[in-house]
Amino acid sequence: MIPAAGSGARLGAGLPKQYVEIAGRPLLHHALRALALHPRIEQVFVVLAQGDDRFRRFDWSDFGVRIKPLYCGGETRAASVFNGLLATRDVIAAADWVLVHDAARPCLERDEIDRLFGELDEDDTGGLLAVPAADTLKRANRESRVAATEPRENLWLAQTPQMFRYRLLIEALRAADPAVVTDEARAIEGMGLKPRLVMGDTRNIKVTFAEDLALAELILRSRQPPAVSRQRSTARTSREHSKGDGRKKSRKR
Ligand code: CTP
Ligand code: MG
Repeated sequence: MIPAAGSGARLGAGLPKQYVEIAGRPLLHHALRALALHPRIEQVFVVLAQGDDRFRRFDWSDFGVRIKPLYCGGETRAASVFNGLLATRDVIAAADWVLVHDAARPCLERDEIDRLFGELDEDDTGGLLAVPAADTLKRANRESRVAATEPRENLWLAQTPQMFRYRLLIEALRAADPAVVTDEARAIEGMGLKPRLVMGDTRNIKVTFAEDLALAELILRSRQPPAVSRQRSTARTSREHSKGDGRKKSRKR
């Protein structure tokens, strides 16, 4: 389930950030790729804002019928995920695993999904990708001066995907206050449960501000994603083609 119904206000790109293009594709296309191509993932539901008229302008054929848009986004991320789960109640079984992944995280890789499956398959609660906090943490006062240095031990930064069973997740979100719940794990915690932290990758960044876009593009290009290599090979083919023509002509002459 990919919540993609936000407006991207902090990025300020003039369009919702899921449609901002990097490395030749919209952010959403990159965010979907590892999930849609994973053999154990049956279906990827993309929760779009009601009245979204951009999704259908892009080419999603790389992923065939595995991608299904749902035009039922809500006021908050939690509401969008909840609406998406409601809309799919007839096709997802209560005990099925659901992975929720931000459209704003374009650098997710197969390895991280496999780690989630490996560590959570037999888990009663489920869990999430996260990375241990590496920087020293300062708590600020109202004047942006350091009020305290917080111990970093045992602090993790939550990422997505977050993986929970359908019934537990929808009940947790139904009971949650959407203003407080900024990720699925928080809703599960509200049920008195303890989601498991699974080691993520610091490159699985969330694009929030403009400088994050440049970083995400660097990460994607360093991996030569399909979109980029396809563009290159198309360019090469047409160059080789014209070279070939040239040679033929010169031979004729
Ligand atoms: N999201 C959503 N529905 C909302 C708000 C957010 O589906 N009402 C999605 C976003 O599209 C994004 C993810 O939740 O994929 C994470 O949210 P965030 O990074 O905050 O994205 P935006 O809300 O779009 O950005 P901003 O807060 O800067 O406006
Ligand atoms: Mg937001």
